[in-house]
Amino acid sequence: MSFWQQFKRFSALSIVVGFAVVSFGSLPAHAQAKPDTSKMPWMNKALSPDERADLVVHEMTLDEKIQMVHGTGWGVLRPPDPVPAKSNFAAGYMEGIERLGIPGIDLADSAVGARMAAYQSRYATLLPSTLGAASSWDPDSAFLYGSVIGRELRAWGTNMSIGGGVNITREPRNGRNFEYAGEDPILAGTLTGNLEKGVFSQHVMSDIKHYALNDQETGRTVVNALLDKKALRESDMLAFEVSIAIAEPSAVMCSYNLYEGDHACENDYLLNEVLKKDFKFKGWVVSDWGATHSTVKSALNGLDQEMPGDENYFNAPLKKAVEGGQVPTARLDDMVHRILRSMFAAGVVDDPPVRTVVDPFRGRDNAQHIAEESIVLLKNSDHILPLKASASNSIAIIGSHADVGVLSGGGSAQVDAPGGNAADPKAGGSGWTEHIYFPSSPLKNFQAHSPHASVRYANGADVAAAAQLAKSSAVAIVFVNQPMQEGMDAVTLSLPDNQDALVEAVSKANPNTIVVIENGGPVSMPWIQQVKGVVEMWYPGIGGAQALANILFGDVNPSGKLPVTFAKDESQLPHPVVPGLEGVPPGPNQEHKVAPFDVNYNSEGARVGYKWFESTNKQPLFPFGFGLSYTTYVYSGLTVDDAKRTVHFTVRNTGKQEGTEIAQVYVALPAAAKENYKRLAAWQRVKLAPGESKEVTLPLHPLSLTVFNTDQNGWQLLSGEYNVTAGPSSSDTPLKATLHVQ
Ligand code: BGC
Repeated sequence: MSFWQQFKRFSALSIVVGFAVVSFGSLPAHAQAKPDTSKMPWMNKALSPDERADLVVHEMTLDEKIQMVHGTGWGVLRPPDPVPAKSNFAAGYMEGIERLGIPGIDLADSAVGARMAAYQSRYATLLPSTLGAASSWDPDSAFLYGSVIGRELRAWGTNMSIGGGVNITREPRNGRNFEYAGEDPILAGTLTGNLEKGVFSQHVMSDIKHYALNDQETGRTVVNALLDKKALRESDMLAFEVSIAIAEPSAVMCSYNLYEGDHACENDYLLNEVLKKDFKFKGWVVSDWGATHSTVKSALNGLDQEMPGDENYFNAPLKKAVEGGQVPTARLDDMVHRILRSMFAAGVVDDPPVRTVVDPFRGRDNAQHIAEESIVLLKNSDHILPLKASASNSIAIIGSHADVGVLSGGGSAQVDAPGGNAADPKAGGSGWTEHIYFPSSPLKNFQAHSPHASVRYANGADVAAAAQLAKSSAVAIVFVNQPMQEGMDAVTLSLPDNQDALVEAVSKANPNTIVVIENGGPVSMPWIQQVKGVVEMWYPGIGGAQALANILFGDVNPSGKLPVTFAKDESQLPHPVVPGLEGVPPGPNQEHKVAPFDVNYNSEGARVGYKWFESTNKQPLFPFGFGLSYTTYVYSGLTVDDAKRTVHFTVRNTGKQEGTEIAQVYVALPAAAKENYKRLAAWQRVKLAPGESKEVTLPLHPLSLTVFNTDQNGWQLLSGEYNVTAGPSSSDTPLKATLHVQ
């Protein structure tokens, strides 16, 4: 062999070897080269996902089927547990079947952005909380939200998102409300459904959770929720029904709690009867992490996959149960079919994710856009906002680390902050109970908007010093926060850490006080009469400070409206004390209450949030649907088309600034429904130039008009007169008309 021949051979070999090391040695299975598919008829894209799944199932051995219905353990969540070689550092991993060309599944937490960026120094955009984003009432924005998550997971090489929380705000102190979409089932379901469609649009599998009635974190693994079926279907389950119909998600995650005596992940009624039969859900039911409690019962009652998989119900014991006939093979095939058909439907087999670099700039812009639609102006006395040049000569910024960043939500929804916690930088990912601030600095953004003003900061720990700073400034902006996270609820609606006293002191020192709230859910505001402005910012995401500055300085007109009612205090709630809280020390261990207990939701039934307040004649602090603007709108001319079940009305911008009004339509059902409250039935974001009018025609949501008939197990449209009202919020509906149903 000549030197050149030898050299070429050597180079070729080293290229092949080098390529193998780089490409196959470090990438997850689904990012590897595709296997030879010529002998795999299920790779024919002309077939339906169900046909393709059937063809695969037909080829599979019992062991391969069992392999797909459980995860590989806690892995990266519980160091030093082993992390499967082919996984991509997500909360869960299902091993693929390489010989059949079926990739593994990385089930990635991503409620408000992808979790676990710190592993392998990845980057993820922190979006506003989903509760915040729900204040936009904007399905397009929700779709964008999901597509950011899908896009970034895909860039990580990850093929499944397990966000999609849609539990309604039945318990306003629930630690996870920030991961959900508010108290109204139709609004929450519509937004979450569109969000998951956005994930799916990126060829990443989607999920909706926590099914169902996981409405509080206190004792979440032992709490037994009681609620009659009619009320259940018209409230919590309705949010799932609407979102599942829109998104057709790959998976639904069953929750930790029990419903009427059975754990959600082995609850025949919830899983088989409702989800699979009534909702016609075609994807798979995945257990929440450690929420599987049996083998045969779970398998027969509808659970399809155990996660994270080392509780050992769906591996060897399931194989034994199938071999012994306690679980029919057909049922195991159905479990596997559901997983496979969802993989084909999402495109993760045909178009697997390929690792690229996440685009942080695009993500930040998207997050800021969503935040600008999410911020809700709750109070604006004397038009203190937008800030005028004179008032902004000197601005005091007080509290909540507003010099460096904005707060994020914790638990499994925690996104790792670039550069670490802005309030306390240190190496590594985010701890479960830490309060993580993202580097979006209100102080710097205010300075940028007001370059000639003196913008000074006090951290608020020293209340007297903060009041002093406020006194020597034209305007005082106090940032208050309510850190929330999975595994624990807020004990009360009050702001923690003496922050009410801080607001009181600042507002005494300076009458021009504006409060900006960074919170996971509704909070009480005992100082509301003393301050001129209140701005609800939620957890606003990585573009939060920019969005806030744009709103406070008037570059963006606020348009968000509350997706939850703000009670004055706990005494107004159906459960003044969080059920099960007695005897449990508040804190991260709240979820681990050992003794099982019931929470009886029949007291309020389907009357969640504004329905409860209306039916019990209580005046909340801020009603559902409420939010101010820098302009004003007038509503007129409501008419109803009985045949089409649509409404028609006009909204006019009577102010001097362009704005977007979220117009809302409610219906009260005929007397036979025996309901003393109204239901949200339609809404629309209407963008209006100053002086402009627009006519709006909207269909009434069919499930807002019907009652659930348990005898017939179906939705029933009652004949009679429906009171239709429209206006700017649930408590302000100036337009009235009647819908007649024969
Ligand atoms: C949470 C889920 C999450 C899972 C995996 C559980 O504690 O309830 O929402 O997806 O952990 O991290």
